[in-house]
Amino acid sequence: MAVEKEKKTCGQVMHEWKEFIWNPRTHQFMGRTGSSWALILLFYLVFYGFLTALFTLTMWVLLQTVDPFIPKYQDRLSVPGVMIRPKTEALEIVYNLSKTESWDDYAKMLNSFLEAYNDSRQAAMNEFCQPGRYNEQPDNGVLNYPKRACQFNRTMLRDCSGLNDSTYGYQEGRPCILVKMNRIINFYAGANQPMNVSCTAKKEDDTQKMGELAMFPADGNIDLMYFPYYGKKVQVNYTQPVVAIKFLNLTFNHDHNVECKINAVNIATDNERDKFAGRVTFKIRVNKD
Ligand SMILES: *[C@@H]1O[C@H](CO)[C@@H](O)[C@H](O)[C@H]1NC(C)=O
Ligand SMILES: *[C@@H]1O[C@H](CO)[C@@H](O)[C@H](O)[C@H]1NC(C)=O
Ligand SMILES: *[C@@H]1O[C@H](CO)[C@@H](O)[C@H](O)[C@H]1NC(C)=O
Ligand SMILES: *[C@@H]1O[C@H](CO)[C@@H](O)[C@H](O)[C@H]1NC(C)=O
Ligand SMILES: *[C@@H]1O[C@H](CO)[C@@H](O)[C@H](O)[C@H]1NC(C)=O
Ligand SMILES: *[C@@H]1O[C@H](CO)[C@@H](O)[C@H](O)[C@H]1NC(C)=O
Ligand SMILES: *[C@@H]1O[C@H](CO)[C@@H](O)[C@H](O)[C@H]1NC(C)=O
Repeated sequence: MAVEKEKKTCGQVMHEWKEFIWNPRTHQFMGRTGSSWALILLFYLVFYGFLTALFTLTMWVLLQTVDPFIPKYQDRLSVPGVMIRPKTEALEIVYNLSKTESWDDYAKMLNSFLEAYNDSRQAAMNEFCQPGRYNEQPDNGVLNYPKRACQFNRTMLRDCSGLNDSTYGYQEGRPCILVKMNRIINFYAGANQPMNVSCTAKKEDDTQKMGELAMFPADGNIDLMYFPYYGKKVQVNYTQPVVAIKFLNLTFNHDHNVECKINAVNIATDNERDKFAGRVTFKIRVNKD
């Protein structure tokens, strides 16, 4: 009958629990007195308060060193990358003259790229600048935000603007390619001297087959007024300058490997490891029966 003795009645268990939760004799709540609870509460309050303060302080110190308008870790020595439009995965512009659908996408890509350059939009967004000099807008103690950018009108691309010829020459086998230089914040491209884009056949033997090129703006010139670029947050309406190349007499059914590079005194184009530094190479081929 010892087993029975050990067993508690339901009422006893209830009573024990009640006493555990609130013991009127010892004035303990869940086994602790009020002052004990208060101490525990105080400890956690101080502990978490300290953690929060530490976190906030660290965050604050970190943010003090960050200028919201200039990316902190940018490579000042970097050379601008160069890219073409239309851009394809392998940088190959290949199409068949008699098949509209084979070049239609290229024209569409150029259309969407050039929309921001519409004269009306440029007139609304950007200002007319004096050519041949940097568009500097220093802060001189006070923040000079937002900064203005200079107009680059779509009509400046003439035969490659897609305005008079919505096929950008693709239909007649005299296609246009746009060359653009990637943006680098605070980079004074050209070091105050004129710069331009030039394109050549990768293999000299192919120069004849590549035929003549037309460049827009004339001579592939890139004006200094589009530099320096101050960053997306500061110079919201900035549109980068582009140079259009029109192949006037491309030999059909032939792979042309073309290299376009930026000629500027402070842009190196001979980096072996980065083949997009200051230059870009692409293939163009127009098939014709
Ligand atoms: C830009 O101009 C082209 C040609 O005039 C027009 O088709 C297009 O809708 C314009 N885009 C914008 C965004 O103004
Ligand atoms: C761009 O086009 C607009 C509208 O036609 C014109 O007012 C402005 O002077 C042009 N800007 C440049 C740089 O040619
Ligand atoms: C940017 O362009 C808008 C029109 O699209 C214009 O209202 C605004 O003033 C421009 N901002 C700057 C900083 O040029
Ligand atoms: C389009 O053609 C007209 C008439 O031939 C010419 O005046 C205009 O300059 C051309 N526009 C472009 C952007 O080439
Ligand atoms: C176009 O190129 C061919 C050979 O590639 C050449 O015979 C012809 O004279 C060139 N035409 C022009 C207008 O340059
Ligand atoms: C292009 O720029 C280079 C170097 O800045 C210069 O030597 C060359 O004459 C320029 N070419 C043209 C067509 O302006
Ligand atoms: C170009 O397209 C036409 C029509 O589909 C086709 O007959 C021809 O073989 C194609 N030519 C080449 C070189 O791909």
